[in-house]
Amino acid sequence: MPKVVIDPVTRIEGHLKIEVDVDRGKVIDARSSGTLYRGFETILKGRDPRDSQHLTQRICGVCSIGHAITSARCLDDALGAKVPPNGRIVRNLIQGANFIMSHIFHFYHLAALDYITGPDTAPSVPRVNRDYRLSSGINNRVVRNYVEAFTIRRKAQEMLAVFGGKVPHITTIIPGGVTEKVTQEKVDHFRTILHELSSFVESVYIPDVFSIAEVYKDYWDIGRGCKNALAFGVFPLEDGGGSEGQNLFIKSGVYTNGQFGSLDLEKISEAVKYSRYKDETAEPQPNKLGAYSWIRAPRYEGLPHEAGPLPRMWVNKVAEVFDLGEKAFSVMGRHVARAVECKLVAKAMFDWLNLLKPGEPTHLPCSVPEEGSGMGLWEGPRGCIGHFVEVKDYKIQSYKITASTVWNASPRDDKDEPGPIEKALVGTPVDDLENPIEVARVVRSFDPCMGCSVHLLEMKDSWGRVTSVNI
Ligand code: NI
Repeated sequence: MPKVVIDPVTRIEGHLKIEVDVDRGKVIDARSSGTLYRGFETILKGRDPRDSQHLTQRICGVCSIGHAITSARCLDDALGAKVPPNGRIVRNLIQGANFIMSHIFHFYHLAALDYITGPDTAPSVPRVNRDYRLSSGINNRVVRNYVEAFTIRRKAQEMLAVFGGKVPHITTIIPGGVTEKVTQEKVDHFRTILHELSSFVESVYIPDVFSIAEVYKDYWDIGRGCKNALAFGVFPLEDGGGSEGQNLFIKSGVYTNGQFGSLDLEKISEAVKYSRYKDETAEPQPNKLGAYSWIRAPRYEGLPHEAGPLPRMWVNKVAEVFDLGEKAFSVMGRHVARAVECKLVAKAMFDWLNLLKPGEPTHLPCSVPEEGSGMGLWEGPRGCIGHFVEVKDYKIQSYKITASTVWNASPRDDKDEPGPIEKALVGTPVDDLENPIEVARVVRSFDPCMGCSVHLLEMKDSWGRVTSVNI
């Protein structure tokens, strides 16, 4: 049976390998493999807990902000830190700037080249020379916007740096808030850039997504996946409450077998039958028989769940996505959900800016306890992130990290049930085995980030049982 292998398939953090079996022009089976092992949990052991938000950002050059804030929230919990309103809002603004940058980055620079043809010069050649359907008018408009999007992304990074200091790895996020002070000048500077970005999102990004979605209509039915959704939630609108009790702008939630539910961490489990780890011990086992990925297989209520902008918009029942019904779970549904979220976040950021109080504290002091534990839940642009720390003798005794691509790109579980990307690939038409662009379009709609995914996580439930959730 014809087999197609794309390795790597991602245009960033490129360690995702996809293998599909094709029969009579359709994918009938798929395997998603994370091909790299990373060991941040090992690096962190024995260090000062306050190092973690600086070090965990280095997991990734794109999801760095998500890890910085998740880690700070984890430490807020472990250190008993209180975050003042200015600190909470500045964190939201920094993460919001990262969402805008990352969503525009994904659409124009990671995904669009599967649909548009640029000039016959690098980086738009070499290209897969088939199934480009846009009229030359629309194609040329999106190509111009592809170039413009580089400038827009730079401006989003400049906006982030107003409070983050620099990008991609920032120094101002700390337990108890942020170190950067709020001044009227910074607020005005941030708002000026946000106006420009917001205008690009509404008048360029969203129309381009819908233009492509209109022409590639069949991709509303391709890449359906498991149709289960998971979101940890992001952007707190009030102080205190911890990771599980806050009122959030994008709320946490779960959608399983057609039913909505609230997030219950005790329903998370993991499987390692096809992952290169020894069972239970989380010990790497590179040559394990039958294993094909360094990613483990997290499951919610024992079932695969998708993470990312589509699940966030779906569990929050945002009309522009929710009204699509089942078609939301598709290649185009994921692109539209990402663009809609970008617009919503940009709009909300204007309100958050207005709530900042120049001169008031952005940080409250806190100190490392001799012993303690903490949990941080958050969302980066690609989906849910969780950090978990145990402190002993003022040092990190254990640190665990989970990220969204682990959910999306996970291999089969102990019941041989495929992960969300694997499931989304089954049924995908492949017209040319030498140029399987349809497979790439399905995988890239998930915006996978492999750097964030090949980690270990071992956590205990309320009965003290180890339920290793991975990553
Ligand atoms: Ni990442």
